[in-house]
Amino acid sequence: MTLCRAWGAAEWRARLAGLMHDCARELSLKQLMAVITRRRRLSPFERDNATVLHGEVGTVLARQRYGLRDRTVLQAIADHVLGRPAMSGLSRQLYVADFIAADRVFPAARALRRQAFCLEPEELLRRVVETKLTYLRSRSLALHPDSEALARELGLEV
Ligand SMILES: [Fe+2]
Repeated sequence: MTLCRAWGAAEWRARLAGLMHDCARELSLKQLMAVITRRRRLSPFERDNATVLHGEVGTVLARQRYGLRDRTVLQAIADHVLGRPAMSGLSRQLYVADFIAADRVFPAARALRRQAFCLEPEELLRRVVETKLTYLRSRSLALHPDSEALARELGLEV
């Protein structure tokens, strides 16, 4: 909850977003794509990386199955996977918290978790995005346009 204070997010929203953000995570890639294609076309990136759809599909499930109506929480659920520019404080908080969560055991997450309460919130966000960029580059993986725009907003080279 310290992170939500840093970004000015209401604590009840942060708790709700934390509970609900991965509500579509257990769906198969086929199921994720089916939910989206009922609403819009998939981009080539999304067809190749369908797991990224669990944020957007999560907002559908959160609304339809769990009756969640708060737009800020729903948007944070959508944003937590890829990020995007001009995110709300809650979206920023969830995006960072998701990356540095205690169950993330890879070294970069451990390192950022240790630094989390020493850094200014925007610097922490910048480092999370930078770490993701480094990971994607090291494996020659594609960067989603929303993630790229977020990186540029934060002054990172993409
Ligand atoms: Fe997720």
